[in-house]
Amino acid sequence: MHKPMSQPTPCPAKIEINEVAPRDGLQIEARFVPTEEKIRWIDALSTTGLRRIEATSFTSPKAIPNLRDAADVVTGILSREGVDITVLVPNVKGTERALACQVDEINLVMSASNSHGLANLRMTPEQSLEQFAAIVDVCKQFDSGKHSGVFINASLSTTFGCPFEGEVPEARVLALVEKLIGLGIQGVTLCDTTGMANPAQVKRLCEAVLERWPETPFTLHFHNTRGMGLANALAAWQAGITRFDASLGGLGGCPFAPGATGNVCTEDLVHMFESMGVDTGVDLDALLEVAATLPDLIGHDVPGQVVKAGKSTRRYAMPPNAQT
Ligand code: COA
Ligand code: ZN
Repeated sequence: MHKPMSQPTPCPAKIEINEVAPRDGLQIEARFVPTEEKIRWIDALSTTGLRRIEATSFTSPKAIPNLRDAADVVTGILSREGVDITVLVPNVKGTERALACQVDEINLVMSASNSHGLANLRMTPEQSLEQFAAIVDVCKQFDSGKHSGVFINASLSTTFGCPFEGEVPEARVLALVEKLIGLGIQGVTLCDTTGMANPAQVKRLCEAVLERWPETPFTLHFHNTRGMGLANALAAWQAGITRFDASLGGLGGCPFAPGATGNVCTEDLVHMFESMGVDTGVDLDALLEVAATLPDLIGHDVPGQVVKAGKSTRRYAMPPNAQT
């Protein structure tokens, strides 16, 4: 039988980026970056056209000591014009701490796989969902009080594979997304925690979620652990995704996922999309200036490539002996 040809999804003309280096990047660093330096860095990032910055996480200071100054960081940020401040929270306690600091968004975190959930959060996915239901209630009570309109996003770690269990079935991911949306969560981030995704898998899952939940803002979060970060981002964009997490310099990784390394690098992602004519809203030159300060901030070199190579528009003088 002749199968009707489905219309190809138009590739989006515009995307928006959530900068996660202050959270996903710093959580795995060996050294604690002093609070004032974090604040100065986030203020600099917020003037580059980034739409959203994940500034820190309100987790247990014993689990993530580098981010133990979360409240001071959020309340110290000066430039919030045009940029939303979001923070990662794993439980009700983290949510209450975050709401007290008047964040614009909370990013709930849970795992799609049991083993990573237990290793990272000491919770199975089912236990995380119970926490999330309680978190939504806390936000509703808070909304009717001091501060209204906090956006509730949820990040689903190990969506594309788990470093302990291997494959995570797509049906399981879809069932969890359905539960998250059913709880009243407004946005969902699909995370490739240890760079196990491939572009064909990404395209399939992105098409599936966009078809099933066209009104839900989905964000894609890739790690470049196996060099597939940009290819995966491209596949997601071709499927119609407009929202990406990325980390300045390519920092990042979950301390409780063996083998985890950096996120897809923000300036490399912006460079790729802008050179394709896709509007990221980011001033790449300004972002590169902030990226160039990273080795001093964290005390070592970073994986980002464009900051070293320059943009593809960079030109060199011909060597004198090659001139006629
Ligand atoms: N903020 C601050 N402290 C918190 C907290 C939060 N969100 N949640 C729990 N705590 C404190 C408790 O008050 C308790 O303190 P105490 O020992 O002084 O009494 C301690 O942490 C243990 O609390 P408990 O509820 O038993 O948590 P747990 O030990 O089972 O840990 C998490 C669960 C989720 C709090 C912890 O695993 C965590 O913060 N993980 C972070 C994971 C992460 O960010 N990974 C990287 C990002 S993907
Ligand atoms: Zn991550």
